[in-house]
Amino acid sequence: MNLIFLGPPGAGKGTQAKILEERYGIAQISTGDMLRAEVKAGSEIGLQAKAVMESGALVSDDIIIRMLASRISRADCAKGFILDGFPRTVPQALALDSMLTEQNRPLDAVIELKVDDAALVDRIAGRYTCAKCGAGYHDSFHQPAAAGVCDKCGGTEFIRRADDNRETVGARLQAYHQQTAPILPHYAAQGRLHSVDGMADMAEVTRQLIAVLDSVKRA
Ligand code: AP5
Ligand code: MG
Ligand code: ZN
Repeated sequence: MNLIFLGPPGAGKGTQAKILEERYGIAQISTGDMLRAEVKAGSEIGLQAKAVMESGALVSDDIIIRMLASRISRADCAKGFILDGFPRTVPQALALDSMLTEQNRPLDAVIELKVDDAALVDRIAGRYTCAKCGAGYHDSFHQPAAAGVCDKCGGTEFIRRADDNRETVGARLQAYHQQTAPILPHYAAQGRLHSVDGMADMAEVTRQLIAVLDSVKRA
């Protein structure tokens, strides 16, 4: 299955993609995670992306499209992928369309996670991840079972993203509404757009996503 998860920062794209990649045997591809890895490595792309990401703006289409094209050609995408955070602009959506048409890999569904802007600031400001395995947690909504110890790997070090602060969230939300939301009608016109209530609790969102995915899988 080839899927896109769309939604504003903090909507739950990464949380749900990590749960569903195992269930469906498909790879989560987060352009945000890829960029953060480039920043950490101090690569050419990382050097260009760092300040842009910390300001909450979008990295150039050029860089992103090249990065994504090479990523989806890797072996772990053979059974499909969940794009998490891509496409984010109309040019990115058009580039993806032509890539997938060329490779004869149609999209099965584009799922929009709908969440109120007001809820997103709290979700983002409380978020942290395990430094060792990347498992996601939240100060109020999802703490590890044993305080300070990762449920998944037992790691005891946690990190917070440089762009996860109340000031930057406003700019990220603005980028979403101005540059990303305009791609929704593009997928609606293709008959591929589904919406899920991202305000529900995490398990309920997963249930709703599975219902959509099982319906497109059978189709
Ligand atoms: P990216 O990493 O994609 O960040 P984002 O889109 O801002 O989205 P987030 O990762 O913040 O949110 P999420 O939806 O994954 O939420 P999560 O599941 O963690 O991009 C970062 C930057 O990179 C961009 O600003 C841009 O500069 C650049 N970039 C990336 N891709 C690009 C592209 N294609 N083009 C150009 N630039 C690009 O959930 C959030 C929190 O809420 C977690 O703590 C979680 O535990 C909690 N939570 C999740 N679900 C629920 C629920 N149902 N109820 C309560 N809490 C919940
Ligand atoms: Mg994410
Ligand atoms: Zn861990």
